[in-house]
Amino acid sequence: MTSSETSEAAKRSGTVARRILVFDSGVGGLSVAREIRASRRDVDMIYVADDAGFPYGDWEEAALVERIVRLADDLIAAHAPDLFVVACNTASTLVLPHLRHRFAIPFVGTVPAIKPAATTTRSGLISVLATPGTVKRDYTRALIDTYASHLEVTLVGSTRLARLAEAFMAGETVDDGDVLAEIRPCFRRHGARRTDRVVLACTHYPFLLDPFRRLAPWEVEWIDPAPAIARRVGQLLGAAATADAGTGRAVFTSGRPPAAPLARFLAELGLSA
Ligand code: DGL
Repeated sequence: MTSSETSEAAKRSGTVARRILVFDSGVGGLSVAREIRASRRDVDMIYVADDAGFPYGDWEEAALVERIVRLADDLIAAHAPDLFVVACNTASTLVLPHLRHRFAIPFVGTVPAIKPAATTTRSGLISVLATPGTVKRDYTRALIDTYASHLEVTLVGSTRLARLAEAFMAGETVDDGDVLAEIRPCFRRHGARRTDRVVLACTHYPFLLDPFRRLAPWEVEWIDPAPAIARRVGQLLGAAATADAGTGRAVFTSGRPPAAPLARFLAELGLSA
């Protein structure tokens, strides 16, 4: 038997871990990987940061589709994942149909959590904080039309937050004034009503939640979709095939080694760089 036949046979008999690939433009998808790891320690995880293409928020759409489909081709051929998680709103809102059309494996995407914000808001004012790419997408508009057309929705396209999150994860100090300038437009008043839900529609942003909470002009619910994505991954994978902890690896398309604080964070998730 070849090694791939052996692993297929082992898979059928349920004795090998399931392999998932988690993909983002940078460190943002680690906010999703962390949730998946917390609920599924058995999976073998390959985390891919396309840091050579970062930030995706600035890319022209056709070029970004082409880049991600080409990368997915290479990654699926190299790692043969059972499941591919696109842990990036900027990519998911654009390339999911292309990926699903081209490859037979299941894809789990990350799209702006407008529905939970719309169903829980009490003030009727919600904001969506995302990259400039995500706020422009037809997909995002369609989510608003479907779930929030009766509400006041403020779309905030931040040009700097994903970079600030990268810096923070690399151990750099992030300036409060810079963060506040990016989140400030999310906070709106209409008469006595104020924004009460802010959708974190970029997977980089949950890493800045501490400064967001500290600097917010008033308290809001920040909606991070990562737990829901981890649940969806669990449903698709089915029960754990093994009680052992899975393996983990992080790949950076630039080939640059991660800064020491990021390497430590990766190690905590069981990802060797
Ligand atoms: N983490 C990505 C997202 O969820 C975007 C960051 C970038 O601009 O590359 O949208």
